[in-house]
Amino acid sequence: MPSLARHRGRPRHGPPLHKLWGIATFGHMIDRTFCIQTFGCQMNVNDSRWLARALTRRGFTEAGPETARIHILNTCSVRNKPEQKVYSALGRVRRVTTGRTDAFAVVAGCVAQQIGADFFRRFPQVRLIVGGDGLRMAPGAIARLCEERDLRLNLTDFSATYPERDPELEGAANTGTAAVGPVAYVNIMQGCDNFCAYCIVPCTRGGQKSRTVAAVLDECRALLDRGAREIVLLGQNVNAYGQDRYGDGTSFTRLLYRTAELSERTDLRRLRFVTSHPKDFSPDSTAAFAALPILASNLHLPIQSGSDAVLARMGRGYTRNTYLRLVENLYKARPDLAITTDIIVGFPGETERDFQDTLAVMRAVPYASSFSFCYSDRPGTAACSLPDKVPQDIAALRLERLQALQQELTLARLTGLVGQTAEVLLESPSPRPAGETASWQGRDNWGNVVHVAPCDAARGRAGDSIPVRITEARKHSLVAEAV
Ligand code: SAH
Ligand code: SF4
Ligand code: F3S
Repeated sequence: MPSLARHRGRPRHGPPLHKLWGIATFGHMIDRTFCIQTFGCQMNVNDSRWLARALTRRGFTEAGPETARIHILNTCSVRNKPEQKVYSALGRVRRVTTGRTDAFAVVAGCVAQQIGADFFRRFPQVRLIVGGDGLRMAPGAIARLCEERDLRLNLTDFSATYPERDPELEGAANTGTAAVGPVAYVNIMQGCDNFCAYCIVPCTRGGQKSRTVAAVLDECRALLDRGAREIVLLGQNVNAYGQDRYGDGTSFTRLLYRTAELSERTDLRRLRFVTSHPKDFSPDSTAAFAALPILASNLHLPIQSGSDAVLARMGRGYTRNTYLRLVENLYKARPDLAITTDIIVGFPGETERDFQDTLAVMRAVPYASSFSFCYSDRPGTAACSLPDKVPQDIAALRLERLQALQQELTLARLTGLVGQTAEVLLESPSPRPAGETASWQGRDNWGNVVHVAPCDAARGRAGDSIPVRITEARKHSLVAEAV
């Protein structure tokens, strides 16, 4: 369990945090308004949503950055750029908190874990730093900081097992007051054991800790009861689920089947998972795409590079051929599968020839879309000390060429869908430029964003799954009409 390390102020021996959780004293305390700014991956987005719900449940109110007293940054350190964004954001927070004793900042997530207590020295407005495992204690810690103005807390210890969060703080599964959106994300694990040469995640999120099947299914059920229609199982390496000493022996494929079974007793319509590691993707999981129609036809399968030499230096544990064989088997199981990926360009030692190999794999798959990045040195990772760093300008040019190719591939795929029918799970009204008819936004089974027009309240609601005909391909999305 994360410890509470004190960094300033008198030593106190008050009641433990969980005893303070129930206390509601609004007298001289800091105004309980908060805002959360989130950087990074879906796990962070999901963590922020939980924290917002948990704080609201405790009587806090979400507010804009200009009026909120508690400024929470949920941070990402996967590359240098998102890390730098945290420091600029803290600069902005400093401007609104300077001279006020009734406002403070909280740094949560991966940069908090990476930098630790140094934040207290560098940014006096920061009074709580909290890593991924400590997040479950953040609502109690924030409540306490509102009462004890000379206190600072550090929740960056890793916990010994998967850090379950208090379901009570989710708010209202039993009272029905906290409806959730149609798409719900459920953590199945925390951390990663892979140590890919470029990656800081195993340091910031810790080693892999699988959550129990019972806890995963309980959370899915609670979310489905409150309005979710699609479940996305989340983890840094979901295919390795259960393969650590914290798992209960259930494999990822088994978990998929168990989750899919929920559709027999609930309104579960669609199931997805992210992120997959090609080296851990088992034949059973491939077969699940044939056996489970509820699995969306959409898979994120990061390749990182199409060059065997680069993949070996990255320590990814697969080759271009084994990756392509996996893709072939996936298409056999689900011919219309839309595969997306992550790619790093300019990894140390990457030659033009290596880069060409990556472009060739992109065409061979071909990817529906991809997230691509220039390699960024991260402190403490193995790649930091590799020779032959690729100059920034060369990496940037390669990134541009790669993204131009991806744009072509994406457009060809989206254009090929025009005229076809699809099933769209409606999520929210689309942002509507003046003069345009009302439309809904949702995703089709391939993961594409689809704007469905005309589609007013009479024709659909968030959570409805409706048949549409695709009428137009845009750069990154589709337009469709309800049929
Ligand atoms: N667990 C996921 C990835 C998590 S990080 C997986 O294994 O695929 C998300 C993406 O950020 C990675 O897939 C990688 O493409 C990119 N990334 C990670 N470290 C990076 C670095 N040092 N420089 C550039 N991109 C990086
Ligand atoms: Fe990072 Fe590799 Fe783990 Fe993904 S699998 S989080 S890239 S170490
Ligand atoms: Fe970033 Fe941490 Fe996610 S480093 S990508 S927020 S796991």
